[in-house]
Amino acid sequence: MKAIIGGTGVDALDGIPLKRTLVQTLYGEVELFVGDRLVFLPRHGSSHSLPPHLVNYRANVAALTELGVDQAIGIYAVGSISSALKPGEIGMVSDFVDFTGGSREQTFYTGGESGVRHIPMDDVFDASLKERMQTLSPRLKDAGVYVCTNGPRLETKAEIRLYARLGCDVVGMTLSTEVSLLREAGIRTLALAYSINWAAGVEQANVSFIGDEQIAVLREEMTQLCCKTLLI
Ligand code: HPA
Repeated sequence: MKAIIGGTGVDALDGIPLKRTLVQTLYGEVELFVGDRLVFLPRHGSSHSLPPHLVNYRANVAALTELGVDQAIGIYAVGSISSALKPGEIGMVSDFVDFTGGSREQTFYTGGESGVRHIPMDDVFDASLKERMQTLSPRLKDAGVYVCTNGPRLETKAEIRLYARLGCDVVGMTLSTEVSLLREAGIRTLALAYSINWAAGVEQANVSFIGDEQIAVLREEMTQLCCKTLLI
């Protein structure tokens, strides 16, 4: 089984209707949309009710494992720090830097019965999925390095200047936690980012977002590309 993890729900993939399914996990119940060979997981819940720092990432990934998922592509909205990926563009993320904090549960390996493991992150994203997607979409951008902030507030201009100096290209609030858990679960993964704004202090005096219609078009394009990549 293959999975697409997105911010907002879809009710069909590749023209195939999906069935709303509830999966019980050790970490809580998860609502997913299940098709023949593909699962769609709306990470914030189907009504987009959970902010990024309160998403139950462990339950989400455990539910994918429960359904036998071994490959997943995540779709992430980002702000642009460098011109690697500009607002309105789609690209594959090459690596990440984690600046989250607070009380996010970032691991399945919490000691005791769960054990202790340190998952290598040298090559975060799956090379063969990457190659497949690149072949299907040769003009797809390299979105570069994703810096993950805790949110839900947006960053200050000083924070974005810092991330730029550290070599980060795009900023978002979900990828590092989700991808770390996917890797712990042994799920091969790829991350597709779409930029909806210049980050604070970049190019514009104040953050402003691209329109909802443009976002809907980008999401549709990415979902189709994910389906093709996963179902080859
Ligand atoms: N910052 C953090 N997360 C985001 C942004 C941003 O500017 N845009 C979309 N997700």
